[in-house]
Amino acid sequence: AVEPLKPVIVKAPELEVDDGTKKVTLFFGTQTGTAEGFAKALAEEAKARYEKATFKVVDLDDYAAEDEEYEEKMKKEGLAFFFLATYGDGEPTDNAARFYKWFSEGKERGEWLQNLKYGVFGLGNRQYEHFNKVAKVVDDILTEQGGKRLVPVGLGDDDQCIEDDFTAWRELVWPELDQLLRDEDDPTTVSTPYTAAVLEYRVVFYDSADASVVDKSLVNGNGNAVYDAQHPCRSNVAVRKELHTSASDRSCTHLEFDISDSGLSYETGDHVGVYCENLSEIVEEALSLLGLSPDTYFSIHTEREDGTPLSGGSLLPPFPPCSLRTALTRYADLLSSPKKSSLVALAAHASDPTEVDRLRHLASPAGKDEYAQWAVASQRSLLEVMAEFPSAKPPLGVFFAAVAPRLQPRYYSISSSPRMAPSRIHVTCALVHEKTPTGRIHKGVCSTWMKNAVPLEKSHDCSWAPIFVRQSNFKLPADTKVPVIMIGPGTGFAPFRGFLQERLALKREGAELGSSVLFFGCRNRRMDYIYEDELNNFVETGALSELVVAFSREGPTKEYVQHKMIEKASDIWNAISEGGYIYVCGDAKGMARDVHRTLHTIVQEQGSLDSSKAESMVKNLQMNGRYLRDVW
Ligand code: 2AM
Repeated sequence: AVEPLKPVIVKAPELEVDDGTKKVTLFFGTQTGTAEGFAKALAEEAKARYEKATFKVVDLDDYAAEDEEYEEKMKKEGLAFFFLATYGDGEPTDNAARFYKWFSEGKERGEWLQNLKYGVFGLGNRQYEHFNKVAKVVDDILTEQGGKRLVPVGLGDDDQCIEDDFTAWRELVWPELDQLLRDEDDPTTVSTPYTAAVLEYRVVFYDSADASVVDKSLVNGNGNAVYDAQHPCRSNVAVRKELHTSASDRSCTHLEFDISDSGLSYETGDHVGVYCENLSEIVEEALSLLGLSPDTYFSIHTEREDGTPLSGGSLLPPFPPCSLRTALTRYADLLSSPKKSSLVALAAHASDPTEVDRLRHLASPAGKDEYAQWAVASQRSLLEVMAEFPSAKPPLGVFFAAVAPRLQPRYYSISSSPRMAPSRIHVTCALVHEKTPTGRIHKGVCSTWMKNAVPLEKSHDCSWAPIFVRQSNFKLPADTKVPVIMIGPGTGFAPFRGFLQERLALKREGAELGSSVLFFGCRNRRMDYIYEDELNNFVETGALSELVVAFSREGPTKEYVQHKMIEKASDIWNAISEGGYIYVCGDAKGMARDVHRTLHTIVQEQGSLDSSKAESMVKNLQMNGRYLRDVW
């Protein structure tokens, strides 16, 4: 007989330390800063409410250098909150990946979190299949391992208004914290109302005589040992090509970044993060709305002149000193719908009282539905909003801290292989160009920049961007003989172009290749059959055994990749039976979901399984890393 595991009871020393302070840790897993912002906002507000407690906001990656250290330190936590975003195919953010892998795979540990009281707030998007998966998984395991859940897991939905979800969840947190952290001697601490101050950087302006030196700080930056989102590598655009024919009314760009001599490297299947620029017409519009000169040179600071930190604590790290034109071009997100906090910041600097009232109303709980319609559903850009409230003229320190979010890098599946293109990173990018409900033409920031980029082959004064590589697990099987099935319509073909380049290189080196099938889809062979010659070449050289193309707008009915998969059901089943790998890349909301269903159907019918057996077989493929998805 096996003796049941006896939980080791460790006293939580840190929640109740001698000086009467209580310690709360707020962990965040963030990609674009929203989760981090929520963690900091909760910490700030809690600090104001519970003066005797201490609050620490912690990046999950910085918390522990190795797995054992996670365990060591987490055991000692008494009260913690987790702010966790879910990305793509139910994945954690980069800075939470190590923690998540360790935490979700080490279940045999027993009830080792007996001392922990906790709350989890998730950031996700309901349009995706694995809505808030990371937060749900962590929340479940925390309870399984003995933690005490203080509030139900918050399921923030970025498709609607995630700020409202956060506010609602936070309201559940206060009564719990009142119980745990209230200072019994001082009943007033609880009722202290808290109003978040509008964030603001300290701004230093430069004389125009110094101006020429200032923008230079942007130019260098290469020579780092490691490149990441905080330390990108300045890379020239070497090549740019349109991939659609002139018969197409859409556009898709092939772009090559030059990474020779930079030290930046990548693997087939990785992603590249690109910091792009706003169009000059957008920057001009912003300049006129702010009523400021483009040649205002300034720097922003998170400390006062005497070096003490500014209040708020949630200020993003500043960007380098530059002109206002550069700052608006490179650092300000001007086209997303403004968050409620941006409206509040605008209201604080509007001179017309009716505008102030309207902005405050839209940001208030009473204006919730109106905000959802007016801002989110209408895709009103920040610039449109500023144009509607012309009396709002925030100073630069407020504009960059609280009104305009930082322009985020865009991620692309790299469409080359370092075996073929060691000094280039190729990107395949469809142009985003659509009419919004207000009649504005929305031009996607990065896809428009790429379409307009000037390549080195055309001019020495070429376009460049700060870029970095993000590793992925979307990799070919180590054994080249294993069959592979690739499904990637449209720009979903991008990583498979890298795969096929790699297979071609392997073949040339003498490797024996297993069978491979690519399911590609586009509208019409005369318009958007991208890389057609290359595809045929991959077949001719044997890098690809079979190319199957679904043209959705050629015949009387739509034909999609999943329809072609059904036609090839027995081939797919055979590949699976032989230990093959299945890869899907492209749109998550439509294509990848439909392909997933089709795969299920194929497994069920070909394997003569019932639905639940088929499902567990597909799940197993996924768990064993033989069914991989790179979806967005
Ligand atoms: P459509 O634009 O004619 O609808 C690449 O974008 C290809 O993917 C296009 O042919 C597009 O067809 C097709 N596509 C659109 N939605 C899809 C879905 N849910 N499943 C598979 N393919 C889809």
